[in-house]
Amino acid sequence: MKQFVVFASVCCVLLAGRVVLSAPAPQQGGAPAGQNPNDVQTVRYYSENNGLDGYKFTYELSDGQIRSEVGTYRDVKDAEGKDVKALFVQGSYSFVGPDGQTYWVNYTADENGYHPKVGTGPTGGIQAGQDAPVASA
Ligand SMILES: *[C@@H]1O[C@H](CO)[C@@H](O)[C@H](O)[C@H]1NC(C)=O
Repeated sequence: MKQFVVFASVCCVLLAGRVVLSAPAPQQGGAPAGQNPNDVQTVRYYSENNGLDGYKFTYELSDGQIRSEVGTYRDVKDAEGKDVKALFVQGSYSFVGPDGQTYWVNYTADENGYHPKVGTGPTGGIQAGQDAPVASA
């Protein structure tokens, strides 16, 4: 019995070591090369949610991520032609990929769906210090 316990313990240690050794390498999570992804700071944060009228928020992180979004309600007709309110969302986000490239998405979302505009490169998308445009009806 004593030998079995020792054997079982050795097996557990070996198995545990194997699991640890075969675990995938930590992901860089999109942090730019050379930057520790666990050391990302909030550079700018703003959030306003007035409930029934809509909301807006912006945040920027020290790893280059930026996100800004505005949501407002618009008067639209439903399928039966009745007047209803529909949420209209306009936003932008961008981040620096592990390849050092900036990826950006500008989008709107409304009663007809999600409409993204996608691009790469330092220009074209939202810039540091910028907020998503105020939604217009
Ligand atoms: C994307 O959105 C940002 C700000 O939200 C704007 O400045 C930029 O012009 C937009 N880009 C395109 C291609 O529409």
